[in-house]
Amino acid sequence: MEITLSAIKADIGGWVGHSVTHPDTLSKAEELMAVARKSGAVIDYRVLHCGDDLQLIMTHHHGEDSEKVHGLAWDIFTACTDVAKGLKLHGAGQDLLADAFSGNVKGMGPGLAEMAIDEREAETVIIFMADKCASGAWNLPLYRMFADPFNTPGLVIAPNLHCGFSFEVHDVMEGKRITFNTPEEIYDMLVFLGSPGHFAVKNVWHRDTGRIAASASTQRLSFMAGRYVGKDDPVCIVRCQGTFPAVGEALEPFSLVNIVEGWMRGSHNGPLMPVGFNNAKCTRFDGPPRVIAAGFQIANGMLIGPSDMFEDVAFDPARQKALQAADMLRSMGPFEPHRLPLDAMEYTTMPEVSARLAARFEPIDDD
Ligand code: 13P
Ligand code: 13P
Ligand code: MG
Ligand code: MG
Repeated sequence: MEITLSAIKADIGGWVGHSVTHPDTLSKAEELMAVARKSGAVIDYRVLHCGDDLQLIMTHHHGEDSEKVHGLAWDIFTACTDVAKGLKLHGAGQDLLADAFSGNVKGMGPGLAEMAIDEREAETVIIFMADKCASGAWNLPLYRMFADPFNTPGLVIAPNLHCGFSFEVHDVMEGKRITFNTPEEIYDMLVFLGSPGHFAVKNVWHRDTGRIAASASTQRLSFMAGRYVGKDDPVCIVRCQGTFPAVGEALEPFSLVNIVEGWMRGSHNGPLMPVGFNNAKCTRFDGPPRVIAAGFQIANGMLIGPSDMFEDVAFDPARQKALQAADMLRSMGPFEPHRLPLDAMEYTTMPEVSARLAARFEPIDDD
């Protein structure tokens, strides 16, 4: 059965501050999604949240980039923004950058990961959702899942993974893309993936079958808006089992510390902490950045789940390591590398301060 799985997300207002979504916005989204399912616009849906980002997960028959499905998500975000405005939530409508919907949510503020798939006999997917970080946050985990045999032994010992995967990488600053074949192009690829603020993995494919394996949102809100509107807080869909990594191989990268851009005022590096749904609330220094994992089996388009994959004591040590890294970075205060480099900060007083002090800068005589 051909279906499309769409994960579309937006920050439409935070309660309190940027910490979490308000229950009333979630119930408004739930109410409108239920109407859409009843009308047949979508096969099934789930409304979730990670921190202050509202996540709409949908299965449908309309394919990728469908005006109908994207328009539905836009209308729901708009209705939820009205609820947020009524409650005077912080940053109501923060990610809705366009005044009106025009065919497709791309470039309009919401984050989008979607894939058209031929549903397998057992279709296992994990949807990763993060808050307080930029879209390149998936580079390291996706590399480990699909190209690192120390993470994914299936690449070495499973005949149906041994062919390797290809990675479509986007230059999010220049608007260009390139595809790398792994394992043979790993060294070339890592030149780019190692700079996640500039290059982000968009899609991953299984090389033998050409099947889509993973798809991530790669928007950069700060560029789109031309002013500070928050980090992207990206979402990523990963197919598991069979010709793809096992569920445990897809989760394993999150057992290690991954330092990402985002956190307080979108201007700091911090550890991406894997948490259960109930802990997806960004408090300490507006973070630390968090990631949740919603696991599903898909049965004729119906979403069997979610199973809260990080709600497990096995990830307690990862959380402890992330919190230790958070302490270590916080001790740097306003110094890099905790604070982002000047050109990557989403908040800065540099132009104003340097203009005010310009006359006090004197040439240095190096004689
Ligand atoms: P969000 O991108 O999650 O809205 O966070 C913004 C921020 O500045 C947090 O300090
Ligand atoms: P305000 O300047 O709107 O208070 O936003 C600051 C902020 O929340 C950044 O995290
Ligand atoms: Mg916010
Ligand atoms: Mg957010």
